[in-house]
Amino acid sequence: TEGLPLKGKKVLITAGPTHEALDPVRFLGNRSSGTMGFELAKKAADLGAEVILVSGPVNLSIEHPSVKLIRVTSAQEMYDACNEHYAETDIAICAAAVADYRPKHVAKEKMKKKKGDLHIELERNPDILLSLGEAKTHQFLVGFALETENELDNAKGKLQRKNLDAIVLNSLKDDGAGFGGATNKITFIDKNLGIKTFGLKTKPEVASDIWEEIIAAIHA
Ligand code: C5P
Repeated sequence: TEGLPLKGKKVLITAGPTHEALDPVRFLGNRSSGTMGFELAKKAADLGAEVILVSGPVNLSIEHPSVKLIRVTSAQEMYDACNEHYAETDIAICAAAVADYRPKHVAKEKMKKKKGDLHIELERNPDILLSLGEAKTHQFLVGFALETENELDNAKGKLQRKNLDAIVLNSLKDDGAGFGGATNKITFIDKNLGIKTFGLKTKPEVASDIWEEIIAAIHA
């Protein structure tokens, strides 16, 4: 219906950072708050979708009968949760700031400090978005890009390399945009490389804009 354009759609969203354990008390992580992903989930549910929100460690909660929140810690756990639900997903949005690397060895006991430098060997995490792009059958797949140089070209390259239907570019050049904060400034790029740039807005407003673009692209 007009008011519920996502009725009957199953939506999968990743949000937040991942934490990659070094030992039982330490991890490598990043400053993602998860806000953008949670706002996208809330908006999708308000538009009629059944939502699975897979989130890394965040200080957020969500109370909506149509949102199922799956809390994970590491990139591997996020990858597993996404793969479990991908087959029945209609629209997937990867908004998580996934750690690209994890410590190669996780100490069973708390690491003791020693004299001199410590070198930590890292190994690659799976790229969740890339693997969803490779496994795509019917899903509409959306990624995020956070670039510091050649923003548009890098985002377009990512869209094509990861077999996406659209990518949301976060403009870091603008004050208040991107990570952790309450506002964001985005450019939406669809797979025909149609580009739409938005002004600085609150994250709930940005979530509405993104869903409007996705719904238009699905019906195009
Ligand atoms: O390649 P890059 O990390 O810049 O791509 C960012 C996009 O890929 C985001 O949508 C992010 O959620 C996703 N991603 C992922 N798994 C990774 C790394 C990035 O899903 N390991």
